[in-house]
Amino acid sequence: TRKVVIDTDPGIDDAVAILFALASPVFEVVGITTVAGNISIHTVTGNAGRILALVERSDIPVVEGAPEPLSRKGIDTAEIHGDDGLGGVAFPEPAAAPLEGASEWLAQTLLASPAGSIDILALGPLTNIARLVQDHPAAAQRIGRIVAMGGAVDERGNIGPRSEYNLAADPEAADIVLRAGLPLVLIPLDVTRKVRAGRDYLARLRSSDSTPALVSADLIEAYFQSGGESRPLHDPCVMLYAERPELFGVERIALSLDLGDGPDAGALLRDAEGGVAAEVAMRVEAAGVLDLLAERLAGR
Ligand code: BDR
Ligand code: CA
Repeated sequence: TRKVVIDTDPGIDDAVAILFALASPVFEVVGITTVAGNISIHTVTGNAGRILALVERSDIPVVEGAPEPLSRKGIDTAEIHGDDGLGGVAFPEPAAAPLEGASEWLAQTLLASPAGSIDILALGPLTNIARLVQDHPAAAQRIGRIVAMGGAVDERGNIGPRSEYNLAADPEAADIVLRAGLPLVLIPLDVTRKVRAGRDYLARLRSSDSTPALVSADLIEAYFQSGGESRPLHDPCVMLYAERPELFGVERIALSLDLGDGPDAGALLRDAEGGVAAEVAMRVEAAGVLDLLAERLAGR
């Protein structure tokens, strides 16, 4: 197994991703750190606790992180994820109180473990990880690798014409993480838009009697309310890549970020001067990853 911290702003697709990680034998989830993103920080922190309570894993610490981006105003997405962040799907209340101070907790946890032994699976804006890099650089160097959902390389954006939510919500944080020289795999919209759940997939999840599969079906169904016949499963792709990288095609691409104030703030610029090379997932075997997701959620 691989030790991971999940940094997240749940979030419907975050919730499905967390349920997958908890169901997979490949990951030992050592903690969940939260970051303001889709919804306010207290709501996403509560949601992390609710997800853990659902699957009786409240032994895993939830650590509340950044209440806002490093220097900008946050971008709320309640119209997609619902006011509660979980599309109105019923969850039990958290069974344990959260801790506070995600970047400090990350630093302590990394310093207390062998270097390289903990990965970060990042599903939201990169504020907490940027804080870790800035305030605790020696601890940050001990991260095994970061696998982060974010960006659009050749795809159109989902916030601006070229910008994707997680990077657009805190472009300065994304820039700090990109330039930190840490092993980073980015999972952009170029692949997550190809990993889609439609009605048939919901039926497949519902043919199981396992709680993670049934609740994931309800979450994805709630996600349909923001339109379309199928919905992209953005954040689960991070876990799916971490478990089964051979289902993805990764390229090394020089990237930089648009740090301006226009509609494409946070957009990735490919091969621009001053770009930093990162591993970027650009292709995916969608049927294979959807099979893996359904199997794990069903408890197989
Ligand atoms: C990202 O934005 C959020 O709304 C989703 O949870 C995902 O992390 C997709 O752009
Ligand atoms: Ca997210």
